[in-house]
Amino acid sequence: MGFEKKILCIGAGYVGGTTMAVIAHKCPQYKVTAVDVDAARIGRWNSHELPIYEPDLDEIVKATRGRNLFFSTEIEEEIREADIVFVSVSTPTKMFGVGAGMAADLQYWEKTARQIRECSASDKIIVEKSTFPVKTALAMERILTSTEAGVRFDVLSNPEFLAEGTAVKDLESPDRVLIGSRPTPEGLKARDALVEIYANWIPRDRIVTSNIWSSELSKLVANAFLAQRVSSINAITGLCEETEADTAEVARAVGMDHRIGNKFLNASIGFGGSCFKKDILSLVYLCRNYNLHQEADYWEAVVKLNEYQKERFVLKMLHAMFNTLTGKRICLFGFAFKANTGDTRESPALFVARRLLEEKAELAVTDPKALANARADLAGIDGRISYVQDPYEAAADCDAIALITEWDIYRELDYEKIYRSMVKPAFIFDGRNILNHRRLFEIGFNVFPIGKPPLTHFQD
Ligand code: NAD
Ligand code: UGA
Repeated sequence: MGFEKKILCIGAGYVGGTTMAVIAHKCPQYKVTAVDVDAARIGRWNSHELPIYEPDLDEIVKATRGRNLFFSTEIEEEIREADIVFVSVSTPTKMFGVGAGMAADLQYWEKTARQIRECSASDKIIVEKSTFPVKTALAMERILTSTEAGVRFDVLSNPEFLAEGTAVKDLESPDRVLIGSRPTPEGLKARDALVEIYANWIPRDRIVTSNIWSSELSKLVANAFLAQRVSSINAITGLCEETEADTAEVARAVGMDHRIGNKFLNASIGFGGSCFKKDILSLVYLCRNYNLHQEADYWEAVVKLNEYQKERFVLKMLHAMFNTLTGKRICLFGFAFKANTGDTRESPALFVARRLLEEKAELAVTDPKALANARADLAGIDGRISYVQDPYEAAADCDAIALITEWDIYRELDYEKIYRSMVKPAFIFDGRNILNHRRLFEIGFNVFPIGKPPLTHFQD
């Protein structure tokens, strides 16, 4: 059977792989392929153990792979065949030269744009799926049109808003799909072709179109707003701890105002993930580039507050445990940057682990899905670290538990059993406020939540 369209995604990572799997699942009439330079990653997409953990992803890949979903390293051949090419390569923070530590590193998409140009013999729609600085489409157009090959490329911006841990659900039922295009007849025609693809499963009123620059910028701004809410609630936690106010009660009262809304108001050890920090820094860099320094300072404060929140957590542990952690064994409950993912990129766990090891503590790390990544992240760092799948085993003989990731399983453990197995006095630092603090206190723990006064058995 011939396919109606051939869709290609360059970059088979969290976004590329998952997005293509959902498109293939929803649209059996299209041939959907994801390619990557990382042969090991492609190997895993083609195996029983996918390279990423996402709820429901295994099922949809199993249902579509080999039917109309394909994973390959044959990038040039696949580009030649494709009608529509999504670009979903990495856009990490640049770590060298001009803009080091701030600007987005654009080398990966630039290489891809050149490769698309070299391999194309027919007209193509190029879709920016990665998160790019505003005006990247212009640079991409300039590269693509810099030869006389007679091939036409129309560049669209179609940023992805999925969150890890809920990626499949977010792709199947997004709040919106955003497509930015040039206002030319060709640009609008390309836009309509992409709208057509999404309209296979998404109601038309949730497919929003805009000019291409608004689309690119909206992605950075959406992440900045989300991260800003987390930093805003986290900026209240210290005051709550000092004044016997309770951040969760404050968040509930504030969030019930429908103008504010109740989402993204969970106080925490700090936000992690591959995008919030890098995208805000990219926004800050853009502002500075246009001499908008007040604006840059405003957004940069969101990241600075987050760094401070992670440090505050470590200092709280140090002070509570009599100002010395040397030789103490500390169990990290969770290493992923949030629940329901194995991803540890920019996880607060990394920061906490490094700082605790600097204090010469020993670590027992446990996580239901992120242990392999934790091991890779901490490889080469000095210190005694054990990686233990079972949380009971991990906590045994520890002085303290630091809860980093809000996995459901940590709510349901037998904490009496855990308490019995630990060194006394036993401490628990709940970096997510998901545990029953009063109950833990009654068991015997000294309990340190985020943004709530501690519950300890010590006399003043
Ligand atoms: P990722 O690192 O998991 O995947 C990117 C992939 O691109 C890697 O597998 C890498 O090998 C591949 N790649 C790099 N250069 C290549 C090239 N020249 N040719 C072929 N493949 C190449 O990253 P990700 O998390 O999927 O993010 C991709 C983009 O999507 C980023 O811009 C990110 O900001 C954005 N984004 C991510 C999320 C998320 O939740 N992870 C959500 C929305 C948007
Ligand atoms: C985020 C956005 O939610 C997505 O819309 C966006 O597409 C994506 O970034 C991206 O561009 O990569 P993600 O980072 O996967 O998604 O996960 P979030 O649910 O946003 O959580 C980010 C971090 O904030 C996590 O560490 C989470 O634990 C923390 N968080 C979130 C809080 O501390 N408190 C909250 O109330 C919410």
